[in-house]
Amino acid sequence: MGFLSIQEAMNKGEGKISIRGWVYRERGSNKIKFIVLRDETNIIQCVIEKAKVGEEKFKDADKLQIEASMEIHGEIKKDDRAPTGYEISVEDFNVVGWCDTFPISKDQSPEFLLDNRHLWLRSRKMVAIMKIRSTVVGAIHKFFRNRGFFEFDPPIFQPTQSEGGSTVFEVKYFDDTTYLAQTWQLYAEAAIYALGKVYDVSPTFRAEKSKTSRHLAEFWMAEMEAAWMDLKEVTEVAKDEIRFIIEEVLEHNQEELKLLKRDIKLLEHYATSEYPTIKYKEVLKILKEKYNMEVEWGKDLRTLEEAKIADHFKVPVVVTNYPVETMAFYKPEDPDDPGTALCFDMVAPEGYCEIVGGSQRSMDVEDMQKRLKAIGEDPKNYDWYFDLRRYGNTPHSGYGIGVERVVAWICGLDNIKDAIGFPRTLLRKYP
Ligand code: 4AD
Ligand code: MG
Repeated sequence: MGFLSIQEAMNKGEGKISIRGWVYRERGSNKIKFIVLRDETNIIQCVIEKAKVGEEKFKDADKLQIEASMEIHGEIKKDDRAPTGYEISVEDFNVVGWCDTFPISKDQSPEFLLDNRHLWLRSRKMVAIMKIRSTVVGAIHKFFRNRGFFEFDPPIFQPTQSEGGSTVFEVKYFDDTTYLAQTWQLYAEAAIYALGKVYDVSPTFRAEKSKTSRHLAEFWMAEMEAAWMDLKEVTEVAKDEIRFIIEEVLEHNQEELKLLKRDIKLLEHYATSEYPTIKYKEVLKILKEKYNMEVEWGKDLRTLEEAKIADHFKVPVVVTNYPVETMAFYKPEDPDDPGTALCFDMVAPEGYCEIVGGSQRSMDVEDMQKRLKAIGEDPKNYDWYFDLRRYGNTPHSGYGIGVERVVAWICGLDNIKDAIGFPRTLLRKYP
């Protein structure tokens, strides 16, 4: 007889079944053992009786510790007293992998759990988060493919920075040096001349010297780039994408959201609401008039100010037209609002802050060269990029979503580190 997953066995509900998994809890006496077995689908209580399996086999049952892996054959039936409403009366079992005392028990520090991430990944909390993450990434692919975008993969070794030299990782490249991708964008801008509308989800590296709960050194960015699109259009795509991701999670991950004690009503609100678009200067006005918070024109919004503005609207907010002088070289000045750039961030409520960053792209080679020089870059290194403007220059726009930022927000996590399997930060590169 083939093995069923625990959930499939429970769906069957009665009769003989075989399952396999890992011991999640165990207790009992010298006559009867209660094993709660887990797999990726659920947990179930299994009862091993000496009278049924015999003296010899029962000795094995007695030695079972948490996280041993085993196969179980028996009879499943409904039982309201069991933790998930079903119980298996074990007829035979086979221990596949014995287990020493598992290093992780209750109430361990976050640092200990991070040192043992390879084992903590099995916890119900991490399983729930990773399932939601899988839905989020799946939703991103579905969203863009439904809209006729092509998946286009970037190089990860890149010869230049693009989002500010201070956070670029330099790596040895044979006898030379190169950099790890800070964004997919510059290469996507080449691809739109071939494919029109492209997207990708790819690893991204930032040598952020910050220890905040929102920064990783290695993360996954989901980016899009489209020919002919302007700022207004691209911000609407971003809003639709975020709503779609949340809808998909609500459709597929009710159990996981419950386990994480996430406010599902609030997520439904985010999935069905309109998100406002306001300019940076309006943000400053609201902060000053409603909250007595003074931000000097030209200063980036800090976490505190971003958090305030998103909580003011209680939904994600798109903020456009940041002061042009602080922006990356490829973000053009808005001809209708001089001094500001045709760019945007989306900030999420509940303190999660910036989840999306994007812009319309500059078509002006001279201006970009000037701005690169101003930050100490040699424009020559970007010559291939300027070719894109020399041969059939086309208006275009795009943005990037931080996958872990979105997962952390949807799951209601305290720290972005739990939104990725094996986090890399300033202070952590193990295991
Ligand atoms: O705002 P950023 O830096 O934008 C870009 O890199 C553009 N080139 C994207 C584009 O237009 N194609 O990064 C985009 C998003 C941020 O809004 C944030 O959600 C996430 O990437 N992000 C990080 N997430 C985790 N850790 C970090 N260190 C992050 N830096 C950016
Ligand atoms: Mg940004």
